[in-house]
Amino acid sequence: MNQLVENISDTARWVAIFRAEESERADAVFHDPLARRLAGEKGKQIADAIGFSRQNSWSFVARIYLFDEYIKQHVEQGYDMIVNLAAGLDARAYRMQLPKTLEWLDVDLPAMINYKNEILQHEKPKCAYRSIALDLSDRKARNGLFQQLNNECKKALVATEGLIIYLAYEQVAELSLDLSAQNHFRRWVFDLSSAALLEMIKKEMQPALKGSGATFQFAPEEGEEFFEKYGWKHIESKSNLKAAANLNRLNDELKAYAEMPEPPGPRRPFPWSGVCLLENVHSS
Ligand SMILES: C[S@@+](CC[C@H](N)C(=O)[O-])C[C@H]1O[C@@H](n2cnc3c(N)ncnc32)[C@H](O)[C@@H]1O
Repeated sequence: MNQLVENISDTARWVAIFRAEESERADAVFHDPLARRLAGEKGKQIADAIGFSRQNSWSFVARIYLFDEYIKQHVEQGYDMIVNLAAGLDARAYRMQLPKTLEWLDVDLPAMINYKNEILQHEKPKCAYRSIALDLSDRKARNGLFQQLNNECKKALVATEGLIIYLAYEQVAELSLDLSAQNHFRRWVFDLSSAALLEMIKKEMQPALKGSGATFQFAPEEGEEFFEKYGWKHIESKSNLKAAANLNRLNDELKAYAEMPEPPGPRRPFPWSGVCLLENVHSS
């Protein structure tokens, strides 16, 4: 395969295809009318080339659905800001029913933000929306942004969807500490894979990302307990497989797995992926 995934931001085009395809189903569990345009032809080419992701599109659908549900739940509970880090081509601020007063921040690398802003220039967000071009690996710059946002809100939900799997352990630890230092960043929702699943992902999908700078690497053996050292308390996690079963997105073989009882996390010696909700121990 030619190098289709040229850089880490191209992974956002790939994920957007699963949002587009779900949205186009008669029984869609979410509707993102902008996803196909945002993904572009390149997004489709990438999804087609990575067969493993196509076979497991249920896991993307479940993940997106679970993030939607957590966002809805927190907005209903009165959270006044969503800090969407590594937002990519996520158009939730344009597609979800949100209060007009909700502050929504999409943060991503400059090229991704410019591309997205250009495509969405004539679209109207549902809430108070800002997109911020920032390299999140620049710790000084990101902490400046986090402090500014912390001063602007009372209760924020931080979302990082499809980000931490690409980070090294020290980078996730530092990001966890920096987020928990902001006392109004009350909760954090992210997706996590078990170490056993990471091995499958690396084998099946890493070759397609070769040369892009994107490496699948973060899946701690201790699961969500990893974050307890860095200022976060685990509230709950939901398995993508179980969510996909409830949404009727599994084939018969996977349905049988989904029906099996899951040993309680966080140490999972089997392929598992899901969405985790954490609370900031410094929140006030
Ligand atoms: C797999 S995509 C996920 C995008 C989106 N959250 C979603 O679920 O569709 C990963 C995203 O991380 C962004 N990203 C990676 N490294 C970053 C960095 N250092 N600073 C800001 N964004 C970054 C990429 O540009 C890309 O949009």
